[in-house]
Amino acid sequence: MNILAIETSCDETAVAILKNEEVCSHKIASQIQSHQKYGGVVPEVASRLHTEWIPNLISSALQEAQLKIEDIQLIAVTQGPGLEGSLIVGTIAAKSLSAMHSISLIPINHIEAHMFAAFFGDNQPSFPFVSLIVSGGHTLLVKVNKLGDYELLGETRDDAAGEAFDKIARACGLPYPGGPHIQKKAETGDPKRFSFPIPLKHNLYEFSFSGLKTAVIQTIRSHEEKKDEQFIHDICASFQSTVIKTLSLKAQNACRELKIKDLVICGGVTANTPFRNHMKTLEETDDLNVWVPGFEFCTDNAAMIGLTGYMYHKMGKVSQSSFTVNPNLSLSYS
Ligand code: KG4
Ligand code: ZN
Repeated sequence: MNILAIETSCDETAVAILKNEEVCSHKIASQIQSHQKYGGVVPEVASRLHTEWIPNLISSALQEAQLKIEDIQLIAVTQGPGLEGSLIVGTIAAKSLSAMHSISLIPINHIEAHMFAAFFGDNQPSFPFVSLIVSGGHTLLVKVNKLGDYELLGETRDDAAGEAFDKIARACGLPYPGGPHIQKKAETGDPKRFSFPIPLKHNLYEFSFSGLKTAVIQTIRSHEEKKDEQFIHDICASFQSTVIKTLSLKAQNACRELKIKDLVICGGVTANTPFRNHMKTLEETDDLNVWVPGFEFCTDNAAMIGLTGYMYHKMGKVSQSSFTVNPNLSLSYS
């Protein structure tokens, strides 16, 4: 089956073509440069750029896969969560192509797709697994019984982990999105120079990053006069290591309490190399199988939307054309 997937939930215009589970083409047009001067995503700019870019992106993805639109049997598109205007652009493109060429259409939950990005390749996680989803908008710990059957274990009470990276980066004078810049500065920083508390250390599954953010910003302010060259590097390293310890602790709690051996980490923050490396060490220390999506499938992409669409199609989910976008779409929990 040939699948066309479209993802426009935030500031990446993304299109992918899959043959069943295999990615034939996967294109991402990043809008980051257009938003960087504002220090974050401007919704109107995002929608306009999605509208400008999506036709060419679809054509070039089809071309790369050596297919025509008539060869596509399934379209998968992000329904939510995300920015409403951005989601509308992607779904209008998907609905139009579906109607014009009589192609089945499946709306996909973006968060769910992040989790199933760990299913590319020959080896796959076993159900049930624990999933830690860490992106710019979400920090969730979920028990996944099977595709479509989820139990929420815990989530953030305030900021998402990625959001904390972005806000601390801004306080350090680093560009948006902050995660990769903090990672870079942290490479030559001392993670022990500043000791930030692990938020909600004694709560099993819930997260909170707002207090940590305030503590880091206060430390930056209190050093305003006496900042040395190394200061920002050490702040970034200390902050990053606290976030990694926090995320790891909650995921370990969940696997231990539920006696589950498979742990999937996913979402944009999973692109952080020290985080990926640390989580992999749990295979030894906690006797877990830790699944991390390939680097290019951690941050927003359409391939994960296509794969999730294909998995739902195999489960018997039928074409749907009457859905509307849902900026606040959450996972449905049992
Ligand atoms: O999943 P994603 O691409 O979009 C959402 O669904 O939100 O995640 C974006 C988030 C941003 O907050 C960004 O700063 C963070 O992922 N991120 C990282 C890294 N790369 C992206 N955070 C830490 N380290 C990274 N290398
Ligand atoms: Zn995402």
